[in-house]
Amino acid sequence: MGEMEDLDVIECTRCPDLAACRSRIVNGVGPADADLLFVGEGPGANEDEQGEPFVGRSGTVLDDALRDAGLARSDVRITNCVRCRPPENRDPSKEELENCREYLEREIDLIDPTAIVTLGKVPSEHLLERDVAVTGEAGNTVDCELGGQTRTVLLSVHPAATLYDRSQEEAFEATIQRAADLAGSGGQSTLGSF
Ligand code: URA
Repeated sequence: MGEMEDLDVIECTRCPDLAACRSRIVNGVGPADADLLFVGEGPGANEDEQGEPFVGRSGTVLDDALRDAGLARSDVRITNCVRCRPPENRDPSKEELENCREYLEREIDLIDPTAIVTLGKVPSEHLLERDVAVTGEAGNTVDCELGGQTRTVLLSVHPAATLYDRSQEEAFEATIQRAADLAGSGGQSTLGSF
């Protein structure tokens, strides 16, 4: 089996509640040699339907910010803390996060990214294993021990936060630009230009 196949979870019933409700398991997408790995919380309704992370409104916000930073969605790897949609879009439980952690750690190991970008509070707290006030810490990088390696984690607000609170928009875009800078790719910030 190739590395990409190793990254896909084909069958899993570790979380009976999620396995009973999901339409499908939503695995990560993007190149195996991506410099940036974006980690969200878990699939929503659109992702559950289409089988790909961040394809709904949050995905459009992420894609737009990537483009503004000179990156295409296909340049980066995008995944989630849990691969099955929690019913009613509730937050994944601690147990569900732990059940899925092995898959995420394997993905981090194989992708070996320059930086991991945590999209929102849930993935930030899950990877850092501490409380995170994400609006205050967004844009900061933190060294984090993951699978025996020190990884650079860039904290970000969730893209959906920009839909509810327009004041988060600039912070989100600046964080994605910082991600592009960390990866040494993408264009310069387009702020102030046409
Ligand atoms: N929100 C997430 O955290 N992940 C997705 O895949 C979509 C929306």
